[in-house]
Amino acid sequence: MRQLLVTGGTGFIGQALVRHLLERGYQIYVWTRHAQRWQAKNSAQLHYFSDLDSLPEALDLYGVINLAGESLDAKRWNAKQKQILIDSRVKTTEQLTHWLIHRQATLKVWVNGSAVGWYGPQSDQPLDENSAPVESFSHQLCKQWEEAAAKATQCSERLVLVRIGIVLEADGGPLAAMLLPYRLGLGGKLGSGEQVWSWIHRLDLIRLIEWSLEHSNISGPVNAAAPQALPQADFARALAKTLRRPCFAHMPTGIAKLMLGEFAEEILLKGQRAVPSKVNTAGFEFKFPELRAALNAILT
Ligand SMILES: NC(=O)c1ccc[n+]([C@@H]2O[C@H](COP(=O)([O-])OP(=O)(O)OC[C@H]3O[C@@H](n4cnc5c(N)ncnc54)[C@H](OP(=O)(O)O)[C@@H]3O)[C@@H](O)[C@H]2O)c1
Repeated sequence: MRQLLVTGGTGFIGQALVRHLLERGYQIYVWTRHAQRWQAKNSAQLHYFSDLDSLPEALDLYGVINLAGESLDAKRWNAKQKQILIDSRVKTTEQLTHWLIHRQATLKVWVNGSAVGWYGPQSDQPLDENSAPVESFSHQLCKQWEEAAAKATQCSERLVLVRIGIVLEADGGPLAAMLLPYRLGLGGKLGSGEQVWSWIHRLDLIRLIEWSLEHSNISGPVNAAAPQALPQADFARALAKTLRRPCFAHMPTGIAKLMLGEFAEEILLKGQRAVPSKVNTAGFEFKFPELRAALNAILT
């Protein structure tokens, strides 16, 4: 049985990922700050823990999936919160790499979270894994996280950096936050509506992570976004149509910035068109390459 250590395994992506990987026969160790809260779920195949040193000496890890980090929309981005966003990812990653190197672990693969925000806010040009970034906080956050993960090459044969787009499912993440206003008929354009949103159905993200674990030719940055990135206004229309609601509302740039600050400015009002070149070339097949089909599967 292949053993995996997962961080962020209690989150919106992580919980579904853990369920999926358990079904695939992996044995999973979830590193969480709150192991007691999750204790009731412990089984022969699944173990929640908070102290790395409590893990058995005989543990022979196949890989790590590292997703832990303070939520980007938890609070307004002031200097202190930005540092929390960075530290929660970088320090967790450093602590784990340090521990594994000290134990002389030899993993097959380390899959690290990152985001399409690595490219920074860009206009409409397609960005593959070789594209250059634009300076911004979201770039700095992802860059520092990816740099911290680079240390994992000292204890792992491969390092995969999944640059994740907006993850879609109804039970959490950005889509869940949009559902109420859209259901009330208040959905619509944010700012110009021209900013491109790169998104991925959560099931495809989970499949892509599993696929990265199992394909030894995959390493380095991987854009985890569906092939059909699209302008926010089109995203809004597709979501409203799926919910059979109108789509006439418009939140001007100034109001969005006032309400949500820099988070709105970088994540909602600007975007980037990430192209999943590496996985496309290597033969990964998205179950949901198009937004309408993804939304239909989630919401109807
Ligand atoms: N959801 C998206 O659309 C999306 C898009 C791009 C990238 N990502 C990235 O993918 C990762 C997982 O996303 P998610 O949506 O599943 O996030 P989430 O639901 O907020 O879960 C994040 C996990 O990180 C841990 N965590 C939270 N705050 C922390 C802190 N201050 N210090 C250490 N650990 C902390 C939590 O684990 P414990 O409480 O159990 O310790 C939690 O399970 C995140 O790093 C996120 O930035 C997500």
